[in-house]
Amino acid sequence: MPDAARQESPPPSGASLFPLIAGFMASQVIYVAARLGLADHLGDGAKSSDELARATGTHASSLRRLLRGLVVVGLLEETAAGEFHVTPSGALLRSKVPGSIRNLALLFVDESVWRSWGDLLHSVRTGETALEHVFGLGTFEYFARNPELAAVFNEAMTEATRWAAPAVLAVYDFSRFRTVVDVGGGNGTLLGALLAANPGLRGTIFDLPSGVAGARSHLEAAGLADRCEVVSGDFFVDILPSGGDAYVLKSVIHDWDDDRSRAILENCRRAMPAHGRLLIIEPVVPAKVDGSPAHRMMVLSDLNMLAVTGGRERTEPEFRVLLASAGFRLARVVPAQPSSARRNARRSVPLVVTRWTVTGTVVALRTVRARPALMVPIPVAGKPTEPGVISSSGAADSWNVAAPATAK
Ligand SMILES: C[S@@+](CC[C@H](N)C(=O)[O-])C[C@H]1O[C@@H](n2cnc3c(N)ncnc32)[C@H](O)[C@@H]1O
Repeated sequence: MPDAARQESPPPSGASLFPLIAGFMASQVIYVAARLGLADHLGDGAKSSDELARATGTHASSLRRLLRGLVVVGLLEETAAGEFHVTPSGALLRSKVPGSIRNLALLFVDESVWRSWGDLLHSVRTGETALEHVFGLGTFEYFARNPELAAVFNEAMTEATRWAAPAVLAVYDFSRFRTVVDVGGGNGTLLGALLAANPGLRGTIFDLPSGVAGARSHLEAAGLADRCEVVSGDFFVDILPSGGDAYVLKSVIHDWDDDRSRAILENCRRAMPAHGRLLIIEPVVPAKVDGSPAHRMMVLSDLNMLAVTGGRERTEPEFRVLLASAGFRLARVVPAQPSSARRNARRSVPLVVTRWTVTGTVVALRTVRARPALMVPIPVAGKPTEPGVISSSGAADSWNVAAPATAK
């Protein structure tokens, strides 16, 4: 925090710290609302707690207490007649509406994540992944054994990727490619957006069987299935689809430690033609973090990786070293601004909810060449922005998206 801002801030007090300490309560309040589908039951109208209790098969007076909890975190409002209706933030817990984050709520407070975070102390003491310590399984093995949760995970990734796709498209021209392979592409949300925006583009999604489970239907519904192949496999074991002009890894590398990440990158490198490019879309942790929403989201995501997946968010030098160890050279990092950050910057939302919304997400799309020796110098337009920092315009955050850099 700048000195001037520090001087103007009120002195710290227990009252300002306590909401953070009790943040888990808000998480559970929101999770229970999402599980019960309260926002769907309410729709655009107002209902009494008794009506909602009947609709959800819950204990009426306890549900009323939960509804008051949703009021204080800003997701519901109570009318003068004692009925409840959703606020604009609460409406985001409805299923299958634009901007819904119901599955993200279901995933992030699911027992698997909840109990892993409850074991964070173990991870900090030992460096081990809490989820493995608690459940004896890796994250994706856990999903494979819990198909319902895997479906929630895939939908949650779809919800998150819907925020990211417009920002990626806004700052990177995919029309230069004929074929894109989205490695760990899940439901195909990002690839679908790339294909929709670039009619000349064809694509392939590669992911585990549980990851691609909904991809075909998703792409068919979007009218894109004829330009897209869906390939299921394991990127630690199987050969990746070869010959793509671009290989995309979005929110994949941060799931893994350096050794596992290197294995994925080397697999990409083997599949890539000489002219191929690798694009990594992920947070880039700055050398020094502050309490801004962008940094908060990144750092908490890093801790989430520590506790849940065994991965990490990385700084640019860390990416550079990792990529070099797999035979890549990082070309450049370019920031992008998620549309949700622009929206949230304009909209006032309650503090306790704001802390955990997308406003802090930082994404980097890095461009690297598979064959550094073959690189052709490309002039850089403008000065690259520092990765992962809040933009000078004061917007909530910036995403970093790579563009071709001048080759050595
Ligand atoms: C965090 S999700 C990201 C999904 C998608 N790229 C996105 O951003 O929406 C990580 C993806 O990696 C996939 N994955 C995990 N282990 C894998 C493996 N061994 N082989 C292939 N895909 C894997 C998961 O199924 C999941 O879809």
